[in-house]
Amino acid sequence: MPKISERGIHLPPSPIRKLVPYAEQAKRRGIEVLHLNIGQPDIRTPDEAIYAIRSIKEPIFAYQHSAGNESYRRKLAAYYDSIGLGVAPDDILITTGGSEAIFMAMCVCMNPGDELLVPEPFYANYNGFAMEAGVNIKPIFSTIDNDFALPPISEFERHITPYTKAIFICNPNNPTGYLYSQNELDQLKDIALKYDLYLICDEVYREFCYDGNRHISVMDLRGVDRNVIMIDSVSKRFSMCGVRLGALVTRNSDVIASALKMGQARLCPPYLAQVAAEAALDTPRSYFDTVHDEYERRRNCIVEQLNKIEGVYCPMPKGAFYSMVRLPVDDADRFAQWMLEEFSYQGQTVMVAPGSGFYASRGLGHDQVRVAYVLKCEDLRAAAACIREALALYPGRTK
Ligand SMILES: Cc1ncc(COP(=O)(O)O)c(C=O)c1O
Repeated sequence: MPKISERGIHLPPSPIRKLVPYAEQAKRRGIEVLHLNIGQPDIRTPDEAIYAIRSIKEPIFAYQHSAGNESYRRKLAAYYDSIGLGVAPDDILITTGGSEAIFMAMCVCMNPGDELLVPEPFYANYNGFAMEAGVNIKPIFSTIDNDFALPPISEFERHITPYTKAIFICNPNNPTGYLYSQNELDQLKDIALKYDLYLICDEVYREFCYDGNRHISVMDLRGVDRNVIMIDSVSKRFSMCGVRLGALVTRNSDVIASALKMGQARLCPPYLAQVAAEAALDTPRSYFDTVHDEYERRRNCIVEQLNKIEGVYCPMPKGAFYSMVRLPVDDADRFAQWMLEEFSYQGQTVMVAPGSGFYASRGLGHDQVRVAYVLKCEDLRAAAACIREALALYPGRTK
């Protein structure tokens, strides 16, 4: 029998999805599973997008331009302009989700064997994309003890080798909720310029910043146009994760030209998604204000409820809709599985994403889980109650 490739064998499973079979079994036993494991919001997609799909009259759902439809890129550029980013339609390559933009950025900016510096914990799928692209993630450790603040810039410099090609950050951060300050971004920019590195920033949670904090985009940084790449997506902004549309944005025309060759190989981003996303750009401001306030409420709710549980620490995220939570358990992977296989409280249990998958360094995150506060406060309270009761019963509790 022909063998699976080394790459195929070693690709990491998603920590966000790997417990799905256990959740399905729990559901078959009649238990309601509260999903805190995945950033799938229960917020309604804007009507503008839904109606646009319903009103399609095209007799043929045809291939589109490989860079994305011009009308959509123009409208998206106008949206970026409206938030002060100064992006031209030609600076945008429309992708199949932010996921494809991440993969393309890694492929066109880096050679196999090159290294990229990523503060950890980080969005777990970066591991998979890096492996597919043949590049190596060099994690820069950030700790829950100071709520995952950006490590000192000296840490980034210490990890730079002749193979380092890029710094990759996520702002606001999934999984930590950390929001980068102007000063931190300026320091990263200085390093990018000093060592001639790409500065790639995943900004798919741009709209989700709390406590009056303003998001600062890498596209706002001056004098680094050739270094900076922004990853964007409609998934979270418009609560339409299933549409699968994102963008790679950069003023570096060589990066766009190279990424477009990958774009041509996959022919085009999805047509229906572009119809929905273009229409979604007409969503009124009030939609975002309501959604923002709802997430802030949910964040306050889950942080308060979890921190009431003895031995649990949940930092207060400044953005996105996740938190990395420390639990008094021997092994968060085992605990997460146990909650699905052996535990229920009032007919419910909780699915969380075990923390270790969000680290590249071995041995880290074993007492952490990522929670996504994408459910209504009432469900979040029920989920926190389940976690409290589960910790009281779990045989591997540590303190
Ligand atoms: C930080 C981050 N980047 C990228 C993505 C992928 O986005 P998309 O659905 O646009 O592929 C996600 C999805 O959860 C994410 O959390």
